[in-house]
Amino acid sequence: MPHPVPPPLLIRGGTIQTADTTSRGDVLIRDGVIAAIGRDLEAPTGVGIVDAGGLLVMPGGIDPHTHMEMPFMGEVSTDDFRTGTEAALSGGTTMIVDFAIPSPGGSLVEAWRVWSERAAKAVCDYSFHVCVTHWSDSVAGEMATLVRDHGVNSFKHFMAYKGALMVDDGVLLESVGHALSLGALCNVHAENGDAVAHLQKALLASGVRGPEGHALSRPPAVEGEAAQRIIAIADLLGAPIYIVHVSTKDATDAIARARAGGQRVFGEVLAQHLVVDESVYASGDFGSVAAHVMSPPFRPKSHQAALWAGLASGQLQTTASDHCCFCAPQKAKGRDDFTLIPNGTAGVEDRMSVLWHHGVRTGRLTPAEFVSITSTNTAKIFNIHPRKGAVSVGSDADLVLWDPDGSRTISARTHHQRVDFNVYEGMQVTGLARSTITGGRLAWHDGALRTVSGTGRYISRPPFAPICFPARA
Ligand code: URP
Ligand code: ZN
Ligand code: ZN
Ligand code: ZN
Repeated sequence: MPHPVPPPLLIRGGTIQTADTTSRGDVLIRDGVIAAIGRDLEAPTGVGIVDAGGLLVMPGGIDPHTHMEMPFMGEVSTDDFRTGTEAALSGGTTMIVDFAIPSPGGSLVEAWRVWSERAAKAVCDYSFHVCVTHWSDSVAGEMATLVRDHGVNSFKHFMAYKGALMVDDGVLLESVGHALSLGALCNVHAENGDAVAHLQKALLASGVRGPEGHALSRPPAVEGEAAQRIIAIADLLGAPIYIVHVSTKDATDAIARARAGGQRVFGEVLAQHLVVDESVYASGDFGSVAAHVMSPPFRPKSHQAALWAGLASGQLQTTASDHCCFCAPQKAKGRDDFTLIPNGTAGVEDRMSVLWHHGVRTGRLTPAEFVSITSTNTAKIFNIHPRKGAVSVGSDADLVLWDPDGSRTISARTHHQRVDFNVYEGMQVTGLARSTITGGRLAWHDGALRTVSGTGRYISRPPFAPICFPARA
């Protein structure tokens, strides 16, 4: 059932902060899009008025990396598209890009269809990267169908998870080359899956079975090697490439070198990796250590400095959460064997606040850079700008009214994410979403959600993003 068009809204008296400019002004929203921007706009009759005095009016966050209700490592991640997008809105994020994953050897188009069904209950807009987990002529044909008929312009590849989702260099060469011809961008989880499997086996053989084995099996070089390899593959094909969840100096340096050489390589950073470090694996408490098991794992602090510098310098362009919730009973599956702990942590709700608090308030990032790395750059790379990631007439009315001075304490007891753990537990953050508007609907306001299942829309993304592909002759 189509949902009624939301009534008009006038956002009054805020400071409009975009990736380029800071200005005072009102924003009028009609039919779910921004209809006018200006000083002292006239209030049409029947308009709802939202007072933005003292607040920043920014493009809603776009999280380019989430896993809602994903079957993974024998479990299903616990946040679904309803609860996960509600959590997103409460933190100021108005769009997610999730991953449609085919069953082993299965159809990519079918995966897209399955994920579309699951996402029908979403309360903010969404889109899907589609994963390439094997190669055949039929996969190549399905990639073309997805680009042509289903609004997909990005394909994801796992260089890790051997025996499950991992692809080898042969598949990467085929897929990256084919995606280039379609004007689609390849995403890559860069960890050397053979090296991880080798180290896991050695650790288990030496008697390391506890969750601390997770990080030991995935040292920084495992990521650095894979990042360099996919960059080299993309270079020899002349293709752009996007590396997800960059967590090391090794991978950051590889990206910076490639970019300095003229290659179009994009890097994504998770808020978690910026502020949580490897010390979480030393507590000796299974529940807490297992709750922090994600890939790539948390790193020594020296890597965090490289990630912050990468974001500030523009060598790394986007931030994400890799939101992938598993509760304690699911994590407990790996009590006697760390390789069986489902990988993933939550973060879709807190990404914006964590980046504001630790990025903008410390001076590492400017407010304009904050907008770039939480929203606008993602919109450009995945070719939905200026519909998304912008405050401009005609753009979707996906906005966050940000209180730069408001504080909250993050806790699993109060968060909206459907999971029993929060890696930021007890962290006091300043900078929060007072109101979040999605498709012209005031969906989060003064601490309360007002959402209607299914009001989120699938966002088609056309190929040949101008930021990724040179002009075609
Ligand atoms: O540990 C993680 N990151 N789980 C989700 C799957 C992935 O690798 O992104
Ligand atoms: Zn409906
Ligand atoms: Zn990954
Ligand atoms: Zn992921």
